[in-house]
Amino acid sequence: MGAENLKAAPVDLMFQPHPARIVRVLPQMEGHRLFQLRFVDDDAMLLFSHGPGQFVEVGIPGVGEAPISLSSPPTRQGIVEICVREAGLVTSALFRMNKGDQVALRGPFGRGFSTDLFKGHDLLLVAGGLGLAPLRSLLWTILDNRSEYGKLVLMYGSRSPDDVLFKYELLSLMNRADMQYLLSVDKDDEGIWRQYVGVVTGLFEKVELDPGNTYCALCGPPIMYRFVIREILKKKISPKRIFVSLERMMKCGVGKCGHCAIGQYYCCTDGPVFNYDEIRDVKEAL
Ligand SMILES: Cc1cc2nc3c(=O)[nH]c(=O)nc-3n(C[C@H](O)[C@H](O)[C@H](O)COP(=O)(O)OP(=O)(O)OC[C@H]3O[C@@H](n4cnc5c(N)ncnc54)[C@H](O)[C@@H]3O)c2cc1C
Ligand code: FES
Repeated sequence: MGAENLKAAPVDLMFQPHPARIVRVLPQMEGHRLFQLRFVDDDAMLLFSHGPGQFVEVGIPGVGEAPISLSSPPTRQGIVEICVREAGLVTSALFRMNKGDQVALRGPFGRGFSTDLFKGHDLLLVAGGLGLAPLRSLLWTILDNRSEYGKLVLMYGSRSPDDVLFKYELLSLMNRADMQYLLSVDKDDEGIWRQYVGVVTGLFEKVELDPGNTYCALCGPPIMYRFVIREILKKKISPKRIFVSLERMMKCGVGKCGHCAIGQYYCCTDGPVFNYDEIRDVKEAL
């Protein structure tokens, strides 16, 4: 039981970069921005259809391309949202761009989270740091079709209160009765945090999970996985019910160059979302 290659990109969206205009830039915490993009060509926008957990190659002419997760849900067509951390060449060039400027998009690529498999089941989403970017796509897919899923728990860990992504959006979810929402920060030097202070695994004692009916979706820094998975297994949830999104250096994004190899798998085509049961014995996976 693997993650799903929900919607492979049509051939021309896969190999041919299509121009997309920046329609809005929403600053997040320091060094992070949410870019709302719209394909210049309406046909490309109509062809573009993704699943949560998939990614696009974002190209800046004359600079290069970088793989970036889709942060918007497939339930909201017309706008492509990506949440970007300024890291190197491509992302710095993107940060110098403004509303109206154009980037080039290829994709969507990879296997994402299987929402068909998740339907009718309880869901635990665990994100750390920028890992909330792809999980936001899954979160809103579930919330936009709320009656199709069981109980929903979101756990999100950040370094400090200043490092919480999508702060206002998360605040807007706080009073929803149809989900459980648990936030943690590693440290709170100014004493302003009203939720849990400590690592994200500390949130597990606050939740009741039905082991036979819960699927788990994880995305965060590599260090987070080992400890979060340990907590999930303590709750008697099977490894087959755990899905993790992995990140590797990529070049082609389409399974040709071998840059993103994880044992026998390619992160770009076999992932980035993997079933934990499939990769737990692959030494370099986690
Ligand atoms: C599936 C997937 C999804 C992703 N989603 C997101 C997302 O949603 N948001 C986001 O901000 N980022 C995301 N990333 C990470 C992003 O693709 C990288 O940070 C990318 O390197 C940024 O490109 P850049 O040109 O700006 O940086 P680069 O110029 O590539 O540099 C980035 C950093 O990586 C180092 N580096 C570059 N090349 C190598 C190499 N070959 N070996 C070792 N180190 C190297 C550089 O020194 C620098 O510190 C994702 C990556 C993957 C694989
Ligand atoms: S990035 Fe080339 S094979 Fe995955």
